[in-house]
Amino acid sequence: MANLERTNFGSKIGIILASAGSAVGLGNIWRFPYLTGEDGGAAFILVYVICVLFLGIPVMVAEFIIGRRSRANTGQAYAVLAPSAPAWKWVGMMGVLAAFLILGYYGVVAGWTLEYTVASSMGVFLNDGDYTAFFNAFVSHPWRPVLYMVLFMLLTHVIIVRGVKEGIERCSKVMMPMLLLIICVLVVCSLSLPGAADGLKFLLQPDFSKIDGKVLLDAMGQTFFSMSVGMGCLCTYASYFTNDANLMKTAGSVALIDTTVAVLAGFVIFPAVFSVPGLSVDAGPGLVFVTLPNVFHLAFGDVPWVGYIFSLMFYLLLVLATLTSTISLHEVATAYVHERFRVTRRRAAVVVTSVCAVLGVFCALSFGLLSDVRVFGLTLFDLCDFVTAKLMLPLGGMLIAVFTGWYLDRRIVYDEVTNCGKLRIPFFKFYIFLLKFVAPIAIASIFINELFR
Ligand code: TRP
Repeated sequence: MANLERTNFGSKIGIILASAGSAVGLGNIWRFPYLTGEDGGAAFILVYVICVLFLGIPVMVAEFIIGRRSRANTGQAYAVLAPSAPAWKWVGMMGVLAAFLILGYYGVVAGWTLEYTVASSMGVFLNDGDYTAFFNAFVSHPWRPVLYMVLFMLLTHVIIVRGVKEGIERCSKVMMPMLLLIICVLVVCSLSLPGAADGLKFLLQPDFSKIDGKVLLDAMGQTFFSMSVGMGCLCTYASYFTNDANLMKTAGSVALIDTTVAVLAGFVIFPAVFSVPGLSVDAGPGLVFVTLPNVFHLAFGDVPWVGYIFSLMFYLLLVLATLTSTISLHEVATAYVHERFRVTRRRAAVVVTSVCAVLGVFCALSFGLLSDVRVFGLTLFDLCDFVTAKLMLPLGGMLIAVFTGWYLDRRIVYDEVTNCGKLRIPFFKFYIFLLKFVAPIAIASIFINELFR
């Protein structure tokens, strides 16, 4: 019989760094910059920040409440809190499914970051090369992306089997400060490049005419994705929070760290891109894998060792950020399998790693061998991204808001947010208003707007 005893995180700083580790990831350094590039720069960032404040933070707190109150994994938390309304449990099940799907395709890009770290450590990006061809050749290769994806999954696996405190918390406490340090160094390097002013203008001067339905949906999807909100990822982490953790403050800190890292990633990437004539900001998903390698050797051509260090640090940064996110996705699924089927944590982790790796193989090959396999015109990789970030997360976020705002006993919500009256939370009523009305209506209207476009 598996030991189902639950542990908690050891400290408040551990709680914040683990949650921030989940939030900060490819979403900040890969997805955010390319969406910003495609969707018009500062205007997109402005909409994004509004979404973080009024959708992201309230839903994150709701996930914290559900997780800490139920002390259960996402898949079972709703059954604990709403025993008489079993339909809610499907929100949790959708979350567990989303964890598998996201990890499946996220692991592919995670693998790319590993490959690029290896490549930059060998000085590949210092040469005058065709990096578009390099990227295309790599992602469509019949086995290399698969190999790196599997390696990344194994790395994640090793941390997960060590447990919540020794694995997740310990790693986050080492990796998050490193990540913050690296990104600050990179910002300074990037801002000293000749084209920096144009990059800053792009990031800071909004052009409101750029805001349309696509920008709104992109910004909302990105909010959920980047903050790890909408499928119970942070709900699972919150089930390991101590009783004295301040949920509002934790959510605020995580949101602040997450948004700061995303914007800083913009400050690294755009000045660099603008400093090289002919490179375009709207390169899409290839931005950090194609455009940046060009920057490394063109912008730092005179002092190659700076380019070498810059590129190595950048991809190492991506690996660190990605790893703290993959472990959080893995934990959602592992905690569910472990507690639902009463198998040991180690065995649950093996199941999750295997399933995600298989899914990952299909996603990885969808850039090469399987590029002709299309569902609704999308490759398997794009399908996973679309279904999770654009549909499941906003829908999950809406249901989580409705569950906490309308269904859950107000007393429970109050007790969790104030730690049974110990904390003074002056804007509690406003918070409930956001959950009951603002979040569900905003999400629904952006959806509907998208359907009838
Ligand atoms: N937030 C992470 C990122 O920005 C990815 C991630 C981790 C995630 N857990 C999640 C996304 C849960 C959605 C849901 O890269």
